[in-house]
Amino acid sequence: MLVRSEVDDEILTPLEVLSIVVLTHFGGSETPSHLITSALLALLDNPDTLTELRDDRALLPNLVEETLRHASPVNLVFQTAMRDVELHGSTIPGGSFVLSYISSANRHERRYDDPDRFDIHPNTDGHLSFAHGPHYCPGASIGRRMAQIAIGAVLERMPDLRRLQPETEWLPSLWVRGARSLPVAF
Ligand code: HEM
Repeated sequence: MLVRSEVDDEILTPLEVLSIVVLTHFGGSETPSHLITSALLALLDNPDTLTELRDDRALLPNLVEETLRHASPVNLVFQTAMRDVELHGSTIPGGSFVLSYISSANRHERRYDDPDRFDIHPNTDGHLSFAHGPHYCPGASIGRRMAQIAIGAVLERMPDLRRLQPETEWLPSLWVRGARSLPVAF
């Protein structure tokens, strides 16, 4: 479909096709895996929340949203300013390379009360974990559903879920946030 697609009567270049395939492949597999692991870690670190989820599966979307906010699978996005941008009294000159730090915005004290606390109950709308604007993640809905389904299955099939290592080893990445592994018994 991509090879045959046209934008403004022109087919995509090989580089555009390749870039969409690579983005969809990595963007669509690694990030949901990290979201699922981080949500499970949050449940293991917050046993009351785990009990609540076991009693009421309707809270799964809250768990996924709060995990997206609190442990954003993508820490930052690389952007280029298309023109001069005024922001809080500073000017970002057009053409500059910008790193927008999603994880920091998601815990901003002007936006959230007690931002470092993991809590599935307040409304955490407005997090930026899928970015914002023209490059907003096209896989946001499917990513959310993947996580809800996976965690729902864990709750169903692993009644005695517990971790086997007290410490979490995080991937050494500035860009993504994810555990290297999460050994559990169930
Ligand atoms: C559930 C976890 C996911 C998170 C946290 C996430 C996060 C993001 C973020 C922050 C961006 C913006 C990147 C940028 O502007 O540089 C993005 C873009 C993108 N995502 Fe996701 N994503 C997730 C799942 C998915 C899935 C499941 C797919 C595909 C099936 C996908 C495909 C893409 C693609 C193709 C882009 C590029 C969009 C563009 O540049 O216009 N993502 N994602």
